[in-house]
Amino acid sequence: MKRILCIGAGYVGGPTMAVIADQCPDLTVTVVDINAQRIAAWNSDKLPIYEPGLEAVVRRCRGRNLFYSTDIPGAIKAADIIFVSVNTPTKTFGAGAGKAADLQYLEKTARSILEHADSDKIVVEKSTLPVRTAQALSRVLHSNTRGLKFRIVSNPEFLAEGTAIEDLLHPDRVLIGGMEESAIEEVAQIYAHWVPRERIITTNLWSSELTKLVSNALLAQRISSVNSISALCEKTGANIDEVTRAAGRDSRIGPKFLKAGIGFGGSCFKKDILNLVYLCEHYGLPEVAAYWEQVVRMNDFQARRFVGTMLSAMFNTVADKKIAILGFAFKADTGDTRESPAIAVCRQLLEERARIRIHDPQALDNARIDLKDAAGDITYCEDPYEAVAGAHALVIMTDWKNFRDLDYERIFERMEKPAFLFDGRNLLDPEKLFRIGFHVYPIGQKPLTHF
Ligand SMILES: NC(=O)c1ccc[n+]([C@@H]2O[C@H](COP(=O)([O-])OP(=O)(O)OC[C@H]3O[C@@H](n4cnc5c(N)ncnc54)[C@H](O)[C@@H]3O)[C@@H](O)[C@H]2O)c1
Repeated sequence: MKRILCIGAGYVGGPTMAVIADQCPDLTVTVVDINAQRIAAWNSDKLPIYEPGLEAVVRRCRGRNLFYSTDIPGAIKAADIIFVSVNTPTKTFGAGAGKAADLQYLEKTARSILEHADSDKIVVEKSTLPVRTAQALSRVLHSNTRGLKFRIVSNPEFLAEGTAIEDLLHPDRVLIGGMEESAIEEVAQIYAHWVPRERIITTNLWSSELTKLVSNALLAQRISSVNSISALCEKTGANIDEVTRAAGRDSRIGPKFLKAGIGFGGSCFKKDILNLVYLCEHYGLPEVAAYWEQVVRMNDFQARRFVGTMLSAMFNTVADKKIAILGFAFKADTGDTRESPAIAVCRQLLEERARIRIHDPQALDNARIDLKDAAGDITYCEDPYEAVAGAHALVIMTDWKNFRDLDYERIFERMEKPAFLFDGRNLLDPEKLFRIGFHVYPIGQKPLTHF
């Protein structure tokens, strides 16, 4: 029985390894982490992350051929193939601060493999990394004096949070980059248990590493492009949803990922683009760097613009006003709030001395952590109707589907008048809300107001 190990039990390592264990009963899969609390949660009834369908997969495999452990040395010794899925955040200090990837967790992982391995291994880069990181990884691993050989393979992950299990079960593609055919094939054989061979793409190492950064940059660019036009729509009376519906009918453009909103969040888009920007600067391509950096700037502009709209609609002051924030996660179907636009929006509202009431079906624990150092009046509400009681404004920050099904007549009754509704996701039907009595401010459309 082949032994697979994954170092890093986060949003990627956890679900990815659960699906591999489920689809490959002939493999033993172990997931380790330095965070003992996280491992304990993976071994408990309350998993450390929320992801639709994840719990069922974990329940089926845990204790059978899926193990979560803190015994990193033992797991490294036993493994044939080691996936590295540790975090690679943006560097916050020293050279490249604010842009370059912080590779300290990756290097520590490599050193721990180096220390504990006593046989040859395949090491798989699952984390998102700057192009040519495999070279650095190889140098660290081959500094061993025991003649051990490590074959390095890049296998970036393309899952999206909120649909991780579906994405893992039916990926558009699995990408495997490497130098040695034999190592690429061994990793391909894992996925071939359930992914059709024509969807398993193999490339050289550097193409694979770069493809992940480029995929995220292109996705984020699409969002920023649409959001930039949403600003123009608000000035001109065009409607962004109509524009993107019609533009997306062009088969060269396609309809997906063209929704205007408050901007992208999540742990990856911003950090991966900044990483790309840093690489371009490093390789002497300032024009290319500036081109991609604009995607992040446009995203920041969109969130600032949204708060500006709120302020000017509410007579240039929100001081002492209660504002109900519906949704704090960076997108629906996840409890993850990393880089969520809700963080920046709430902080700006608190600076304006608003009193904020936050409701989210899955993300309240993370919201408490994100805002723990923010001064001001914040209440976290399990019940959306509690959040809107006495509120001057309601803000949709996350596209949770169940926000569509709330009783907006009841909400309107509970709110102060005039009752403002700012829909940061264009999730709700503005006409219907207007008829109830709200002053409605969608993104990229003319506001519907009773004044
Ligand atoms: N979250 C996503 O949607 C997503 C999607 C695709 C790719 N990625 C990439 O995958 C990687 C992991 O992302 P994530 O969201 O799972 O991060 P995460 O922070 O949720 O998980 C990383 C885990 O690695 C552990 N870790 C760090 N150093 C370690 C070490 N030396 N030994 C053992 N464990 C260690 C941390 O404790 C943490 O639990 C990143 O490079 C990210 O860019 C993320």
